[in-house]
Amino acid sequence: MSIFNATSHTIKQAAQCLRGGGLVAFPTETVYGLGADARNSEALKRIFIAKNRPQDHPLIVHLASFEQFDAWACDIPDSAVMLAQHFFPAPLAIILKKRPDINIVVTGGQDTVALRVPNHPVALDLLRAFGDGIAAPSANRFCRISPTQATHVLQELGDSVDMILDGGACQIGVESTIIDLSGDHPMLLRYGQIMRSELEKVLNLNVLIPDALLKSTVRTAGMMATHYAPSTPAMLCENTAIPHFIETNTQMKMGLLSCGDAFSSYAHCTVISLPANPIIYAQNLYAKLRELDALDLDVILVQTPPQTEDWEAINDRLAKATHHFREH
Ligand code: TXA
Ligand code: MG
Repeated sequence: MSIFNATSHTIKQAAQCLRGGGLVAFPTETVYGLGADARNSEALKRIFIAKNRPQDHPLIVHLASFEQFDAWACDIPDSAVMLAQHFFPAPLAIILKKRPDINIVVTGGQDTVALRVPNHPVALDLLRAFGDGIAAPSANRFCRISPTQATHVLQELGDSVDMILDGGACQIGVESTIIDLSGDHPMLLRYGQIMRSELEKVLNLNVLIPDALLKSTVRTAGMMATHYAPSTPAMLCENTAIPHFIETNTQMKMGLLSCGDAFSSYAHCTVISLPANPIIYAQNLYAKLRELDALDLDVILVQTPPQTEDWEAINDRLAKATHHFREH
């Protein structure tokens, strides 16, 4: 298995590979996806095996345009049309009632399906060349950090992928916002770059947040928040507590991911600095966590970012990445 530069030729090859039941990793604007023909049960099963993902975790079906939604979903509400017109192509997955003929392997046995039109030229070219839905979870092993570069996919999945299309580093860096429009009221199921307030403005409706999502962000004990975690224990730390923690734990090898503030350097602590800008921070977050994870450290300190809405997706992922230090 090797990495192919994404060109019109390799994209055609990748579409052919998908038609033959193969697995193709490809870039999107959020993270790299592990793609398979969303109508081919055998190919879909390979995704679950490659990721070591439980079969009841549904996959997002990627499409080249909103016009194709009719082939996958039924009872599409006006709210979906409004969001599609305003945002698509976009880092936004929409959950709708599935058509009866849609494969339950892709929906994890549920009667709803997640659909998304990604805003990335390589993903869109691949989707057009393939002509139908591509199921694509993030191209990482289950519970690990999502890949934002082609080399990360290789590290995560190696030979279980048939082709990796390289389209450079992902621009957004955290997974898409997920909104559920299959019920009576819109529900936000995952925070992403498109914020709840933006969705509410377009819909002119309140978007509800289920308790489980709220709890994962406020870091309540008892949550099984095992996603997006580096293998090194990671811990959120307020800027004022960081120097004391580093200076009193000299026996530990540690890393620090800072957010806007400058910290002095220490022999036992590798500092990686990110700016207090949520767009740039998100773009780099997973790659920097991977770098720190590779250093064989005892602990990764993560400076707590601001708590405003534009940081919500980041704070949600950090809460999950630092679950080791929370009580279960
Ligand atoms: O940004 C993204 O969405 C990336 C790129 C590759 O497009 N994909 C991604 O897929 O993050 P994945 O499988 O790692 O996350 C999909 C999430 C899962 O948490 C899954 O439970 C949820 O979407 N999901 C999918 N279908 C669903 C459904 N019918 N009902 C509820 N949740 C669903
Ligand atoms: Mg994922």
